[in-house]
Amino acid sequence: MEKKTGFTGQLGFVFAAAGSAVGVGNLWRFPYLAAKNGGGVFLLIYLVLVLTVGFVLLTTDLAIGRKTGKSAIYAYESMRKKWKFLGIITFIVPVLIMTYYAVIGGWIVNYIILFLTGKVDIASQSDTFSNFISSPNSVWFSLFFMLLTSFIVYGGVEKGIERVSKFIMPVLLFMVVGIAIYSLTLKATAPNGEIRTGIDGLMVYLKPDFTGMTVGRFLQISLDAMSQLFFSLSVSMGIMITYGSYVRKDVDLSKSVSMIEIMDTGVAFLAGVMIIPPVFVFLGLEGMSAGPGLMFISLPKVFAQMGLGGRIIGFVFFVLAAFAALTSCISVLESIVANYMEILNAQRKRATVVLSIVYLIATGVIALGYSTFYVEVNLPNGTTGQLLDIMDYISNSFMMPFISLLSSILIGWIMTPQWVIDEMERGGKKFSRKRLYAVIIKYFCPVIMFILFLQSTGVFYLLKG
Ligand code: PHE
Repeated sequence: MEKKTGFTGQLGFVFAAAGSAVGVGNLWRFPYLAAKNGGGVFLLIYLVLVLTVGFVLLTTDLAIGRKTGKSAIYAYESMRKKWKFLGIITFIVPVLIMTYYAVIGGWIVNYIILFLTGKVDIASQSDTFSNFISSPNSVWFSLFFMLLTSFIVYGGVEKGIERVSKFIMPVLLFMVVGIAIYSLTLKATAPNGEIRTGIDGLMVYLKPDFTGMTVGRFLQISLDAMSQLFFSLSVSMGIMITYGSYVRKDVDLSKSVSMIEIMDTGVAFLAGVMIIPPVFVFLGLEGMSAGPGLMFISLPKVFAQMGLGGRIIGFVFFVLAAFAALTSCISVLESIVANYMEILNAQRKRATVVLSIVYLIATGVIALGYSTFYVEVNLPNGTTGQLLDIMDYISNSFMMPFISLLSSILIGWIMTPQWVIDEMERGGKKFSRKRLYAVIIKYFCPVIMFILFLQSTGVFYLLKG
């Protein structure tokens, strides 16, 4: 096997891991959840969860990776032989996510081109998006995005992933801050004559809204926040285990965890500042939706109403979205490549080429899931979906809570938290939140993950009738 390569130091590692964490979830899901769940109420709950459960899950994955020096499958096996199965299940998550993440990347590329070529009026029509994805030609955009990802992973950890992340992340942060400030300066007259400003929109986002708040609703919001947190930090899918295995032993892991949390949560928060005020000013809050609808239908409408400024902002927005998607997509492919290299004792270049071919085909199939391979399936949460939604549901809603549940039992009760704490304190580093870590991983994580898992099976939905 090749000599293990890795990140050159803390900065490269933190940017790469934050690059994985900051993805389309920060842009199209976080702002929507906040707007839907009482603004500041959601923000507060999310913040508390990031600092507790999020911190624990991220710390666990990274420490497992660095301590074992392996990717998911062998990392779990090297802890306890019998737990290899957990490594295999963990490995399946990126295997599934990889089939559709480049598809979304391709959609973003299409909108970059529309804004770049001044076709704002086309971009802002309601049916442009559905026409685009249901045209078989859209597959080329997704294949392009997949190839780009493969090309970077082919370059290796240091020369590919680290180098690209060190460029992309600072530029992305700069763009997010820039657009967020611009959003606050907006002003327009609503159809009912009312003047709405960006600052009013900001207040809607920040102000805790307790109307209709019951214990049940509070719990529901917490569960929403929790599942967003998983997805957003890229934990419980082996990605952070792989990235952890590339971290030098002298890097302060505890500090790195804080930096990754701050970047991921910071970008999610700023995405809200960037998106909620303009949507509020130009469309009213009814314009807030989650997922592709927000990014590819509502926002282009908003940009179209901003005139020339909107064309520029729209272009910048989609470039930053592509950046966010690219660094995430890279991390998904990387974790698959890394496991593959370990299983087959293969070289990176060969592994990347083989897996790229497999995933170009998979990306093609999923992208065509809105045309040639159209299906409509009922999911346990009561929605219907196409191929992409099925993959997303299995990997994110269903498998991730299950993995976290088992992994917190393994670390909390079998290996014991000290196993992780030792790694965090390696070389005399300070791990100041270690008591909190031990309590949460032992008692809190298993319970909350179990509830989330039950929710994903649709039990609650069935109970409600
Ligand atoms: N964390 C990314 C986001 O917030 C999503 C992601 C999922 C990235 C899975 C990698 C793997 O969008």
